[in-house]
Formats: sequence, structure tokens, C-alpha cells
Amino acid sequence: MQVLSTQQHDSQPPLLAVQISSITQAERALNVQWSDGSSATYHYLWLRDNCPSAFHLHTGERSFNLLSISVDICPRAVEFDGSSLTIDWSEGEHRSVFEQSWLREYSYCDALAKNRSSSYVSWDNSFASQIPEADQGDFMQDDQTLLNWMLALDKNGLALIRQMPNTEAAVVETASRIDYLRQTNFGVTFDVISVARPINLAYTSIALPLHTDLANQEVPPGYQFLHCLCNDSSGGESTFVDGLRVLEKLREENPDAFALLSTQAIPFRFHDEGHDIRQHHPVINLDSFGNIIELKYNAHLADIFDLPEAIMYDYYVAYRELMLRLQDPALKIELKLGAGDMVVFDNRRVLHGRNAFDETSGSRHLRGCYVDRSEFKSRLRVLENSQAPQS
Ligand code: OGA
Ligand code: ZN
Repeated sequence: MQVLSTQQHDSQPPLLAVQISSITQAERALNVQWSDGSSATYHYLWLRDNCPSAFHLHTGERSFNLLSISVDICPRAVEFDGSSLTIDWSEGEHRSVFEQSWLREYSYCDALAKNRSSSYVSWDNSFASQIPEADQGDFMQDDQTLLNWMLALDKNGLALIRQMPNTEAAVVETASRIDYLRQTNFGVTFDVISVARPINLAYTSIALPLHTDLANQEVPPGYQFLHCLCNDSSGGESTFVDGLRVLEKLREENPDAFALLSTQAIPFRFHDEGHDIRQHHPVINLDSFGNIIELKYNAHLADIFDLPEAIMYDYYVAYRELMLRLQDPALKIELKLGAGDMVVFDNRRVLHGRNAFDETSGSRHLRGCYVDRSEFKSRLRVLENSQAPQS
């Protein structure tokens, strides 16, 4: 084990408040002691794999082939000059130079690793008076408005756009400001309007219980946009419940039910003359860090459960508990969209539905489309890098 000197060069101003104070070379890794008392391990394989030269100069994509080195690669020499760390490697006649600030930023030791919690914050029906909104004109023209609105939608999963142009093209024009659209078997857009021969219960005037759309898809669509072109019949109010809040409470109050619903997959299916789209999914989806990131719930698309015999009864009990919790009036928001309003929500988190409406009393027409989560998050990151959010 070799302890390396880390004297600061007088001519160099400190790059960081926290500096490397010492570096120790071990068998498979360097151990770095930071001036704030934290210490971090950097494996040689990791360092070589992430050498700045491993990434293409213009695209930033990794071009290094990990198999071009052995798992026993180690430094021949290590030098720290007060701001950057230079390693001459035992293989490939290669030299890597790492900035101290980069090493700190990408440290993967427990104490310094990045926060992996999700950006979502759950709500109950008191959120009804705080739903974030923007005017469509500002949303289209002003990046700062777009960024603030997207940040609020990311956090809450539900937001509004007002003053929409009363045209059939407006929903696509507006959603495309975020990114390209997700096409489904219902088309790039879909018209929620009562028709004589519906292929889907949404295209009737009956009530739609709370649901998430297209749970039968391999990956259900992310953000749903519903532009109200008219809604002057009696009834037809939109309903919303934050699935995240329901699941947070379920996890806390009935962890066994939560565990069944997040591990056992049930079948979902949509079929009409031209399609038979099916997928098994657990109703609850966690990410690899344990955050609740998705609920798939659609009574109309749930197919015939085919769980193992030993689980079937307990699963039904857990599923019914979820159904009951979704009906909690303290969690439900009801709002009547008017012409010019557009509601946007995270279809994989916030459940939506509608009250029945009376077709003889007026007309109701919503036009919808979807933008997936990865495109939404990407746009958010790009905007964040170019704008600072304002309240
Ligand atoms: C749908 C839907 C809601 C409404 O089309 O999937 O949920 O308000 N529509 O009609
Ligand atoms: Zn729906």
C-alpha cells in the first residue's frame, strides 16, 4: 500500500471547497480521503472505463471497449497535482487524467452517492385549488413558462393549459412543444366523443371509473393530453386521484398487500377487430431504487387473472383493498373542463375518469394524445440546462 503526497501548488486556486487530502493505492482501487472527512473508493476498472478519452469527443458517447483491458488492470504510477489526478496504467500504454471536481461529483461511495429519490410529490384533494396552469400562448412562446409548467407537472403529475385555440390541431401543436408524440392503436390522436358503435367505453356517455390508459401495452403511454373542444352537456366532469398517494399509504398500512401487488403480474388485454394487445404486469411498479413510479389500473382492461393457486385468494383480497382505497373521496379531484382547457397528467401515476353525461343536453368532445416519460424528462433536462426556474 502506497500513500501518495498531495501537496497543493501555490499557483493554483482551489477548484472546490472540498479538496483531496490524500490518496492511498490498494489492490483493486484507489482510496481518496477528502478534506471534509469523507473518503471514497474508486476501482481501477471504473477509472479506466471512465477515462475522459473513453468518450467520443463530439458525441460524448462511450467509445472505449471494456474488454480491451483485463480485470487486473492497475496503476503503474499515480500523481495528484492539487487539482487533477494522473494515472499511468499497467496495460495499453495509457495515461488518464481526472479532474478532482469530476471525481467528487461521480463518487459512488455510500455517503457521497447521488440522491436516488424520485421527483414526484403526492397529493390529496386539497391539491384541487393548486393545480398548476399556463396560458397556451405563453406556453408556446416562452421557454421559462414551459420549464416552470413542466417542473410542476413532473412533481405533481397533473397540470392544466388554458386558452387553447379551438382547433382540432391544437392538441398536437401544444404537446409537440415538449417532444414527439406516442402513437397507439387509437392513432396519434384520439377523439373522446360518444359514438353509435364504440370500440371502447370512453366513446360512450357512461361514467368512466378511475383508471390508467392502455395498461395492456408493454409500456403504457406516459403523459396524456386531453383538450376540451366542447363540454356543454350536463355531467361529464373529469375525475383524478393521485395513484402515488394511494400507494404510499398502502405500503405503510398494509405492506403485505403492497408486496403482492408489486410482485405478482396480472394480464391486461384490449381487443377489437384489428388488434389483440395483451401484457402481464404487476399493478405497482417500483424503480431499482425502491421509489414507487407507476400504477397500472384499469378495470375494463384487466383480463382473466391467472395467478398461481396458492396466491389467487390473497391477491384478490389485496386487489380489492387497492380498489377501495382508490375510491377515497379525500383523494379525489373533480373538475369540469370547458372549451379551451387542456388537462395533462402522468398516465402512469395519476388515475383519471369522468362522470356520465347526458348526450341530449349538449355536446362533449375531448381530443387527446400522449408524450412518453423519457421524452418529457429529456426536454426538462435540456430546458433546465438553459433556463433557471422562476416562481
Ligand atoms: C379516455 C378517458 C376521459 C373523459 O378516453 O381514456 O378516460 O373525460 N376519457 O372522457
Ligand atoms: Zn382514459
